[in-house]
Amino acid sequence: MSDFLGGGWSIYIALVALLGIFWCIWLLFSQRKAKVVHTADGAVADTGHVWDDDLRELNNPLPGWWKWMFLLSCIFGLFYLVLYPGLGSYPGILGYSTDGALMSSMTTANDELKPVYAKYVKMDIEQVAADPKAREMGQRLFLNSCAQCHGSDAGGAKGFPNLTDGDWLYGGAPENIKTTLINGRGGVMPPFGAVLNASQIQDVTNYVRSLSGLPADDLKATRGAEVFKANCVACHGADGKGNIALGAPNLTDKIWLYGASEETITETLTKGRIAMMPAQDKVLSPEKIHLLTAYVWGLSNNKPTPVTK
Ligand code: HEC
Ligand code: HEC
Repeated sequence: MSDFLGGGWSIYIALVALLGIFWCIWLLFSQRKAKVVHTADGAVADTGHVWDDDLRELNNPLPGWWKWMFLLSCIFGLFYLVLYPGLGSYPGILGYSTDGALMSSMTTANDELKPVYAKYVKMDIEQVAADPKAREMGQRLFLNSCAQCHGSDAGGAKGFPNLTDGDWLYGGAPENIKTTLINGRGGVMPPFGAVLNASQIQDVTNYVRSLSGLPADDLKATRGAEVFKANCVACHGADGKGNIALGAPNLTDKIWLYGASEETITETLTKGRIAMMPAQDKVLSPEKIHLLTAYVWGLSNNKPTPVTK
């Protein structure tokens, strides 16, 4: 109940709820005194409403059981509002909240699953990745927590790395992947639009394309190599093969996070790129992160390593 913008709304809502209940009780008692009208022969008079020719609405008092049920539900409502949240932002004396109930049911579920996970926590990532049951659990976790960004087949999308290709921004060893999951990652490619002029950007774009054997203008690429040496090697390395400590991608392979067209590379250089892999340590238990690490590691290590690359 923390959604109210100000205390005034909270009081207003609480008053509406309370007055509603008291109005119901007042209505019950105010109608109690209504006189029952009798006809001349002593029968109860009807209200004058007649349906289906002969169905008359009599003017009897409310039955006792109904009156008491009505009153009890009003009292139940009042007790409920004292115990549980319902009166504006007043939390109720039991301190119940749907957030709290969700957290405690998640904690219970995690505790119940602990023995199931315990077996895998003691195993190496390589061993867990080889276990079909663990892979199945890992895949389910992946579909729940990761697929919205990396795709249900972990194949990635523009700006979201493919996790199946054996090419890693931050390293593909089990401990690298686990660190990625626990702490998250934030890759920053700084913008060079204000540092380099348009022709320097064009030159270095051609040089970057030449690194992976894409068609490029030789003259521009040669000039671009100098621009690269002066501005890019600190992060992407002298050979352009990247740096997993910074998440700077290898520019010499044919795998692109954003794209290899001249247009896209120019955009990457001019505006820079920022990517965010959210930390999972507050979201997933260490056991789940262990299973996910094995699942992700296994995606690119389930095939024999290609001999040439
Ligand atoms: C909100 C989107 C988002 C979600 C959710 C997400 N990721 Fe990521 N992930 C990213 C982005 C973006 C990057 C690239 C970060 C960068 O470029 O610096 C990334 C990077 C990674 C990397 C590093 C890849 C490499 O090449 O080194 C791994 C591994 C990874 N994610 C696994 C996961 C797993 C497992 C989950 C589920 C627990 C997950 N991600 C959930 C967006 C997401
Ligand atoms: C401060 C470190 C740093 C410097 C300096 C830097 N980069 Fe980057 N670059 C990165 C990072 C980190 C990424 C990945 C960004 C992400 O994860 O979104 C990146 C991404 C790129 C990409 C996108 C690759 C792809 O797969 O789509 C290109 C191209 C690139 N850099 C070229 C350059 C060039 C050319 C220069 C020099 C003019 C340069 N970078 C300077 C860190 C750097």
